[in-house]
Amino acid sequence: MTIEQQLVGLIEHDDSVDPFPVTGWDALVWVVGNATQCAHFLQSAFGMRLEAYSGPETGNRDHKAYVLRSGGARFVVRGAVDPDSPLVAHHDRHGDGVVDIALEVPDVDRCVSWAREHGATILVEPHDESDEFGTVRSAALATYGETRHTLVDRSAYAGPYLPGYIARTGTHRPGPRIFQAIDHVVGNVELGMMDRWVDFYRRVMGFTNMAEFVGDDIATEYSALMSKVVANGNHRVKFPLNEPAVGRKRSQIDEYLDFYRGPGVQHIALATGDILATVDALRAEGVEFLPTPDTYYEDPELRARIGHVRVPVEELQRRGILVDRDEDGYLLQIFTRPITDRPTVFFELIERHGSLGFGKGNFKALFQAIEREQEARGNL
Ligand code: FE2
Repeated sequence: MTIEQQLVGLIEHDDSVDPFPVTGWDALVWVVGNATQCAHFLQSAFGMRLEAYSGPETGNRDHKAYVLRSGGARFVVRGAVDPDSPLVAHHDRHGDGVVDIALEVPDVDRCVSWAREHGATILVEPHDESDEFGTVRSAALATYGETRHTLVDRSAYAGPYLPGYIARTGTHRPGPRIFQAIDHVVGNVELGMMDRWVDFYRRVMGFTNMAEFVGDDIATEYSALMSKVVANGNHRVKFPLNEPAVGRKRSQIDEYLDFYRGPGVQHIALATGDILATVDALRAEGVEFLPTPDTYYEDPELRARIGHVRVPVEELQRRGILVDRDEDGYLLQIFTRPITDRPTVFFELIERHGSLGFGKGNFKALFQAIEREQEARGNL
């Protein structure tokens, strides 16, 4: 098993029989209120490296865009320069968030014709963009809310990101790499819409169901959600989809939908090979995590359930890292507080040891922690 297979749980897959082959993630594109400062945060706190840039100095008078990378993960953060930029209205409505989960595909036209036949909304038709580094072919499909999937074939391109971008490095001192790849990206959709979007990913994009969590598994006294997971052929791209379930009080998914003004990306899980070092490095830079109560670690049921893991439970407890085990192995995970002003988007850090799951056994402990924060915000 390669390091990447182990890190994000890849499986063998034959692209030639896939109606919509997806190689992996291309980029997560964000719209933010201040891309200049967000790019700094991603470098200083998350150890990402600046690779490319587009803005007024390069002829883009509409917005600034910074392209950052950590291992296999690429983020693009865009913020309006022109007060009349369409990004202003988008940001006004949603706040900071992910607008595009761009995917790398070997054949843009084949994917788009399959998607069109199966009912997709094509936002951008397949087209080429070229500069001195070659040609990128891409197209875009609509998904939940105002989120899209740009499909990108950059096999004939050697530039730093896309035509129109220049190579640019940061002046920030490069620290150690904090995470290696994107593991999964979670979408929150409205009550009753989860199955519709699961069906969309299966029918339109050839994804398959991975796992299912419903009802009691993830209910707490007050709030609940339902979640299903779809993945592409090789499992590099995994999309859990959540919808609120009825509880005694307002679900955390409802809080998200209210503050994001509709469906959107809830959290991005970042894969790391050493979650202890990652959490220590992030904490040292001021990143805040959801606290895990000591009772989580003191529960004899937890100790029995998780069995042997690579570090003493006390080391996990000191950092608030959660553990889950299934038939394939175990995983270690932790969640940040929202990284935006609105209680919407947050990160997860995940270290997999064979488990292909998403921490189902931790949902209850996690939700109780989220609810304590929701209550503090006056939104429970
Ligand atoms: Fe997750």
